[in-house]
Amino acid sequence: MSTLRIAPSLLAADFARLADALSMAEEGGADLVHVDVMDGHFVPNLTIGPPVVRALRAATRMALDVHLMIESPENTVAEYIDAGADWISVHVEATHHLQRCLSTIRKGGAKAGAALNPATPPAVLSSAWADLDYAVVMSVNPGWGGQPFLPASVEKVRRLRGEASEAGFRVVVEVDGGVDTGNAQALAAAGAEILVAGTAIYGADDPAASIGRLRAAAEGVRA
Ligand code: DX5
Ligand code: ZN
Repeated sequence: MSTLRIAPSLLAADFARLADALSMAEEGGADLVHVDVMDGHFVPNLTIGPPVVRALRAATRMALDVHLMIESPENTVAEYIDAGADWISVHVEATHHLQRCLSTIRKGGAKAGAALNPATPPAVLSSAWADLDYAVVMSVNPGWGGQPFLPASVEKVRRLRGEASEAGFRVVVEVDGGVDTGNAQALAAAGAEILVAGTAIYGADDPAASIGRLRAAAEGVRA
């Protein structure tokens, strides 16, 4: 039996009230907190860096899932480990040194992830399975929250899981972008084990309750 983890994305929360956003995630039973780091180069948007990750680390016991949407992450990934990230993903499109990034993350004691933009096929990971703890299937083009889910992502999750298992590996798949109660069950059925959701959680009237609704939807039961 696979475990389903829900990871609220702070990108959709009020950046002036991050402590409240953490409390809502905890109250709703979130498994991870998703932290979107954008550098204004790999993606046009600019968000936060290691000092804020460090502050979040001090403010919660929940695991921090740090999604690095930054160019050449090999140059700064150690700073995110040092700041207390528990899971760290880098984009395969942003580095010439994927293996080095992943092994630095693992040596630092965090879980190592590789994120794929919508146009990047799972086959780019064919030499990386052994170095990966998780793969992130981006179901929007990264840069902003609140974008519509790309439906082809469901099949991509299935294909990625299949390619890993044909090679003899079991890789946890995280899906990020436009995830909501309308697509959660299809994603879980395709093999996704971590669902990231920003707008569907922090855009709801009751963010804590919306975490339970998303989990119920993914598990195919009524909330
Ligand atoms: C997109 C980010 C996502 C985003 C998800 O660039 O990586 O984590 O915040 O937010 P929603 O759920 O609103 O698409
Ligand atoms: Zn993200």
